[in-house]
Amino acid sequence: MTKNDGKNLTRLNNGSEMPMLGFGAVLETDVVDFNETYTHAWQAGYRLYDTASSYGNQIALGKWLKSLDCKREDYWLTSKVAQYEQGYKETLSAFEKTLKELQTDYLDLYLIHWPKEKTFFETWKALEHLYDEGLVRAIGVSNFEANHLDRLLTKAKIVPAVDQLETHPYFSNHVTHAYLKKLGIQHQAWSPLGHKGAELNDPTLEKLAQKYNKTIAQIILRWQYQNGVATIPKSTNAQRQRENIDIFDWQLTAADIESIDLLQKGERVMGAPDANYSEDKW
Ligand SMILES: NC(=O)c1ccc[n+]([C@@H]2O[C@H](COP(=O)([O-])OP(=O)(O)OC[C@H]3O[C@@H](n4cnc5c(N)ncnc54)[C@H](OP(=O)(O)O)[C@@H]3O)[C@@H](O)[C@H]2O)c1
Repeated sequence: MTKNDGKNLTRLNNGSEMPMLGFGAVLETDVVDFNETYTHAWQAGYRLYDTASSYGNQIALGKWLKSLDCKREDYWLTSKVAQYEQGYKETLSAFEKTLKELQTDYLDLYLIHWPKEKTFFETWKALEHLYDEGLVRAIGVSNFEANHLDRLLTKAKIVPAVDQLETHPYFSNHVTHAYLKKLGIQHQAWSPLGHKGAELNDPTLEKLAQKYNKTIAQIILRWQYQNGVATIPKSTNAQRQRENIDIFDWQLTAADIESIDLLQKGERVMGAPDANYSEDKW
């Protein structure tokens, strides 16, 4: 596995080894050439691809993955069951559709995209069934905070392996991070660069970028890595893709990590998970 070898794999609570840094595969369909973007990502060394049925890119991603001259076990594939697909039977059929679209016979990781109150346990039961059947190597959740995890664990047979959460310097999700650590669940950051937000111009991060002769994006991604947070930055630009994965042969000091931890302001780029938890509209 080129750049995703050994030193950036994390062992999940079921023994699976997942790359700590992967490619956030959401792309703007109208402005981007999928094949070219994914090919550049592959060439840069990305071996984890993060998608979801709601992203509308599974068919394109599946077609591109099929065209690669490699074995299926050479890359990690994550997808997610959408809010409007949740429920026991519904999740099983959504999963079948996802496998077809991605042209694969298994996923490495299948996540509940957002918690949904009404079908909460049924959806997890479906994921456990898929895991027992060997159709997914690991199961997990996304946008689950402590209250959702506590509820899930009252009935779950399997503890989620991963929780994918909004995480960037202005929204470090440190409270949930500490809870996940206690439960043995791997924290994975979505929008790790703050969705190209203000962090990319932050003066503290700018100073650190100068000190280490790195870019601000690299400082942020390295901070996540050293804090034990797996991450999935997205870029459509080949140079920035290479930059984002080039964070494994240098390190930040403990004091510099702490100075980034202090940037936390609780500023989300998307709504809180509880905002739509009880809604039926999704
Ligand atoms: N589970 C969930 O609910 C959830 C929600 C949102 C996202 N996600 C996942 O997280 C992935 C990443 O999230 P995201 O796309 O929202 O945000 P992101 O990775 O934080 O930021 C992407 C933005 O930053 C820019 N960028 C990337 N690398 C850069 C660099 N080195 N320097 C400067 N700008 C850079 C990109 O522009 P260019 O493309 O022009 O480089 C793009 O506009 C998604 O693809 C998806 O897989 C999951």
